[in-house]
Amino acid sequence: MRVITTRQEMAQACRQTARPLGLVPTMGALHAGHLELVRRAREDNSTVAVTIFINPTQFGPKEDLGKYPRALEQDLALLRPLSVDLVYAPSVEQVYPSGFDTWVDPGKVAVRLEGACRPGHFRGVATVVTKLFTLIRPDRAYFGQKDGQQCLVVRQLARDLDLGVDVVVLPTVREHDGLAMSSRNAYLTPDQRWAAPVVYRALCRAEQLWREGERDAETLRQVARAELESEPLVEAIDYVSVADADTLEELDAIQGKAMASVAVSLGRTRLIDNVILG
Ligand code: PAF
Repeated sequence: MRVITTRQEMAQACRQTARPLGLVPTMGALHAGHLELVRRAREDNSTVAVTIFINPTQFGPKEDLGKYPRALEQDLALLRPLSVDLVYAPSVEQVYPSGFDTWVDPGKVAVRLEGACRPGHFRGVATVVTKLFTLIRPDRAYFGQKDGQQCLVVRQLARDLDLGVDVVVLPTVREHDGLAMSSRNAYLTPDQRWAAPVVYRALCRAEQLWREGERDAETLRQVARAELESEPLVEAIDYVSVADADTLEELDAIQGKAMASVAVSLGRTRLIDNVILG
């Protein structure tokens, strides 16, 4: 496993390596969800590259950039047994050298939900992902369904900008009690960790109703919201959404595929999760 920190060396390594090349972009603090993406990339490709970069441009001024978990040595130890070929762990200056001034501004699919709660977030994600795709030129890139809106944003940018990358989305990996794996789970106090499965439970309640034949989206939103509100440690509910799974437009009646998603805060930790209906 070669660990590379400069863009010149990474570009050269990717040009010279065997194809197809599968890329798993991450911000580090790797958990079982990331490792599933890496395993799948290993199965599908001759070369596997993982990027570890905490991208400052996708964090708002009041968000958790400063305290985001950093664990490079531990991450490398987790990746070695999975036969990863290349790890790119650049500094901020490598990705955004002085004078950097070009941005990728995603369209409609980035406006709602996370886009509305975290202004500028998807512009930062789209910019860094485009830069990584351009530098590494992967044939496939792997993302987790947990960040459902991010998957749609990346798929759209890969298509719109002719990046020639097949975006592969894998199911959310969960803890035994249903909590979606996330690097941010590490912020939860023991009490909050105990309460956190309410997020998935709320989605399951909506999904269960949908399975029973309920197609009124507002009824599903209400049932999910009631479950979240039943947990006193949920301090804020940013959204409860039942939206078209491709456009993320809120639905009245569910006809095709829908995404039920929620974002809540437990103390200062923000958790997001979603399930696909259909
Ligand atoms: O999902 C993440 O970890 C990040 O948003 C990504 C895709 C690595 C871009 O920084």
